[in-house]
Amino acid sequence: MKTGVCYYPEHWPEERWAIDAKHMRQIGLQVIRVGEFAWSRLEDEAGNLSFDWLERSIDTLYAEGLSVVLGTPTATPPRWMLDRYPDMLAVDANGRTRDFGSRRHYCFSYEPYLLECQQIVTSLAQRFGDHPAIIAWQTDNEYGCHETSISYSSHAQTAFRTWCKDQYGSIESLNDAWGNVFWSMEYDTFEQIGLPTGTVTESNPSHQLAFWRFSSHQIRQFNKAQVDIIKQYSKGTDVLHNFMGNFVEFDHHDVSQDLDIATWDNYPLGFLTRDNTNQQDQERFSRTGHPDSSAFHHDLYRGCCNGRWWVMEQQPGPVNWAPYNPSPIDGMVRLWGWEAFAHGAEVMSYFRWRQAPFAQEQTHAGLLLSDASEDVAAVEIAQLNQELEWLRQATATDNRTRDVNPGSPDVLSRKVESDVAIVFSYAGIAIQDIQSPGGSQFSALTFCQQVYSACRQWGASIDIVSKDAKLDGYKMVILCNCTEDDPVLVNKLVKLREAQRCVIVMFPGTGSRNANYRFPENLPPGHFQQLLNLRVTRSESLPPHEKLVATSSDKHSISCRQWREHIESDIPPTSRFADTWGFHYSDQRIHYINAVPEQQDLTILIGELLQQAKVDIKNLGPYLRTQKLGPWRLAFNFGADAVNLIESLGAVFDMHSDTTLMIGSQTLAQGEIALWTVE
Ligand code: GAL
Repeated sequence: MKTGVCYYPEHWPEERWAIDAKHMRQIGLQVIRVGEFAWSRLEDEAGNLSFDWLERSIDTLYAEGLSVVLGTPTATPPRWMLDRYPDMLAVDANGRTRDFGSRRHYCFSYEPYLLECQQIVTSLAQRFGDHPAIIAWQTDNEYGCHETSISYSSHAQTAFRTWCKDQYGSIESLNDAWGNVFWSMEYDTFEQIGLPTGTVTESNPSHQLAFWRFSSHQIRQFNKAQVDIIKQYSKGTDVLHNFMGNFVEFDHHDVSQDLDIATWDNYPLGFLTRDNTNQQDQERFSRTGHPDSSAFHHDLYRGCCNGRWWVMEQQPGPVNWAPYNPSPIDGMVRLWGWEAFAHGAEVMSYFRWRQAPFAQEQTHAGLLLSDASEDVAAVEIAQLNQELEWLRQATATDNRTRDVNPGSPDVLSRKVESDVAIVFSYAGIAIQDIQSPGGSQFSALTFCQQVYSACRQWGASIDIVSKDAKLDGYKMVILCNCTEDDPVLVNKLVKLREAQRCVIVMFPGTGSRNANYRFPENLPPGHFQQLLNLRVTRSESLPPHEKLVATSSDKHSISCRQWREHIESDIPPTSRFADTWGFHYSDQRIHYINAVPEQQDLTILIGELLQQAKVDIKNLGPYLRTQKLGPWRLAFNFGADAVNLIESLGAVFDMHSDTTLMIGSQTLAQGEIALWTVE
């Protein structure tokens, strides 16, 4: 793994560039991202290109031996663009036009803007395509950030009608697929189709899902247009995009099909305060981030581009955008680096080099303070780099290296091997978000993260994969948001069942709607009934005060909240709720869990399933995490109390009384990491 940083040469006087480049190298940084917001300086009026300064800045970095990721500037169209195309702005669900004055002020469906983007990308790719410093290109910046995946503009409406025509062929089949006979919503022509907003009450969920798919498709097309140009002029150079955390507004698996590397932007403390609704988590993890938050996304994005993934932006200190922005504890920046390493990152890049003394992000930490003196992160990253280099030297003679990136062989680059796969469906989440089966409190993404957390608490290593991934070889396959009834996925799972080597776990909602947001004809879980013979005859959501307890004949009990399903089946349930509804149906290795257990009970249940799957497990509790990568195992402590690794990990996780650690100590304090060789 290499480390890197996001750098904005256009923010600083040119005399600084060489000083900065040298300083970056001294810290051990190797990959520098530039350019992604610089359009106003690259083209100050239509057609007037000024690329010389960018070339000089790239040359300066290269002269220090640094590699460059060049961003296309299309997330920040300059002001003249708006004068030229007043209609380019996106429109929100309330019909409000999103105005100039920050960033991402464009609508994916506005074609003249797409053409402008193609033009600037072509010019950049022609000029820099062969520059030896450039190891990758980044398209745009964080598609969808600031609620920009969806636009309700008239251009989106026109494009949506065309998309519908392509999808459904005739208006009759669209009416039929969406069930438009309900409330006399039938259309006579495609030209009558509006966007699903502003309706008197809820619009048709089929219409909403189709619009979600369309909006996702527009992002893919927008991205692909740039990738195609870059590939033409910068042959063989990787193209990537920086995705976000806790973000599912479009299908990332789909967009990733056109990319070489999936990268993502990791702000663990920002995510915790902004997105986590659990008060206890807020209190105990406010300065470390949730122990499973970064890991979840690392494993998710590793599944997007055949294993190739980076962190493009990593939190270096307090951020500026969450409701509260605490400082990470000392050591956390280093820990997050090692954690990314353990999950197989090729590059860990930090945001940003130097704190900006102007504009929106003045209070966002960098590696340097705004006066160019080092902040805490610079010191921790320098330490991380020294340790990585030391490990590289120690491993240099190891010929078992299996590099995931043949382009840049590195003895530290290894492939993660996981026992468990979580099949992750963006459309499945959209389906559950459109009409939440669990009432207003339920989040399909959060539930998936809770399942992930439960597995991680047992020390399991996990791949989060798309429905199209190969599933052979896993000991356990989990479906927590495969809401879409998908015969192809079912076929694959049926084959796995026949091979009898894998435990398959389905959670509520599996197969509960078809691709057009209709109930399956044979009731949920639709085609998944081929795996287990049961039908869901009712689904109920529960108010927050209601907790339902399912008890088995041996008095084992499990508490559930939010929602549950009523099942009809010949298979007897493992336990029953007080009102006789059954809970947890299984036949040998196939399980259907028809309610949402509370975290503690979910963890116990997952532990039992992992045991059946013969995955090596040991309960690590809420604070300690471990991950094996190639010949190494690593441990991370997120909790306030020090842990004894021999007791906590034990032989299950390769920790014996005579184990010699390469980094860290047997007693692991908060924010510390341990690394040792296991093979
Ligand atoms: C990211 C974005 C960066 C910067 C950062 C601040 O979402 O890509 O440009 O704004 O957040 O944390």
